[in-house]
Amino acid sequence: MNLANAWYSSGMTIDACTANPPARALFSPLTIRGTTLPLRAGVSPMCMYAATDGYVSDFHLAHLGRFALGGAGLVIVEATAIEPRGRISHHDLGLWDDSHVEGMMRIAGFLETHGSVPGIQLGHAGRRASVREPWHAGAPLDATDAQAGTPPWQTVGPSALPAGPDWPVPHELSESEIAESIDQWAAAAQRAATAGFRFIELHGAHGYLLHSFLSPISNTRTDSYGGDAQRRMRYPLEVIRAIREAVPENVILSYRVSSVDGVLEGGLGIEDIVEFSRHAAAAGVDVIDTSSGGISTDRSSDTRVRRGFAFHADFAREIKANTDAIVACVGFIVDPEQASRMIEDEEADIVLLGREMLDNPNWVHHARRSLASDEFDHWDQRFGSALGPRLSSLQRLAESGETPLTRFEAYSGA
Ligand SMILES: Cc1cc2nc3c(=O)[nH]c(=O)nc-3n(C[C@H](O)[C@H](O)[C@H](O)COP(=O)(O)O)c2cc1C
Repeated sequence: MNLANAWYSSGMTIDACTANPPARALFSPLTIRGTTLPLRAGVSPMCMYAATDGYVSDFHLAHLGRFALGGAGLVIVEATAIEPRGRISHHDLGLWDDSHVEGMMRIAGFLETHGSVPGIQLGHAGRRASVREPWHAGAPLDATDAQAGTPPWQTVGPSALPAGPDWPVPHELSESEIAESIDQWAAAAQRAATAGFRFIELHGAHGYLLHSFLSPISNTRTDSYGGDAQRRMRYPLEVIRAIREAVPENVILSYRVSSVDGVLEGGLGIEDIVEFSRHAAAAGVDVIDTSSGGISTDRSSDTRVRRGFAFHADFAREIKANTDAIVACVGFIVDPEQASRMIEDEEADIVLLGREMLDNPNWVHHARRSLASDEFDHWDQRFGSALGPRLSSLQRLAESGETPLTRFEAYSGA
């Protein structure tokens, strides 16, 4: 609502309205490694299961492009596999080959041109790979899928331990296979940077490969990649260092953590993740993105974090208070006032929205209208120049008492 409208609808005096409203932290810029996020709200990575052999499709451009046109400060492309075995499903994006770069370039370029910092999440699903899409319950692929042309593949992990009952046993990676995988992470990150992404996030959460090395639930190795916390951190930290060396200095590195494992016994807690975050920051990570859970698919003793509003905010605050990292928070952030308060109260530096953005890709523009007295200034002028006059017309109609249903009332004689 602009100042005139605020005055018009509230009955305030014009003097009270012309005083500048306090600037809200949600709309303050944040510069990291020379790249400026124009505001603190971004789009969380969300797999769309719309790729073939890892290649982007027009769907990805349209889907992600909406968020840039909607004013998001940062748009993070979904988990993108560093090798074919690291895909969650057959239809995940990939960056395991140079030929994937061209399509990604188009996406990064569009996001950048329309005002969002282009981000991408790199991932390896580890022992949770080789599954169906969520609308087919996300179950492991089996012989039925093989008959339908989407066969299961051998998953990999730190140890030969399945993710849950009825899940396949992963192949335990040897030390030489670990070294090969670190090279794959670095090569994928280099391709992401070449494609124009300025923010590269490593998917270190949700039970996927990096997380499975960190957690004692999934890592029971007895070599230098397993055992105590330091050894379990070794693989993720080597991946971070390799990526930091592979990408230009000005690329922002983010790491999504599961702040807690969310299992009944023996899993990682927030204190372990604070400690890991300190090491990750020292190894070259700029941003810690706080999520949770996923290490086990066994729901018989479900201790997942309760899905209340901003359900990771306490974890984000803890990591922010105890590390030097910039902290992003995700999870049921839906309301502009809520989002801005999270920044103002130092719970997080960046808020990421997932499903809310799917529901309303213009969320940031609407947030500006509700918190920053900004009608259409930040919209692409192609939209703003049409929406401004439309709003004036709507206001005129409201003043005259006409509603969209007045016409119907007139013929029914009501
Ligand atoms: C359709 C869908 C796909 C998702 N894919 C990813 C993903 O690729 N990587 C990831 O880290 N999280 C993924 N998530 C989790 C979201 O990024 C986000 O953390 C979660 O939905 C909670 O935030 P929200 O309440 O704002 O949706 C996905 C969530 C949804 C709904």
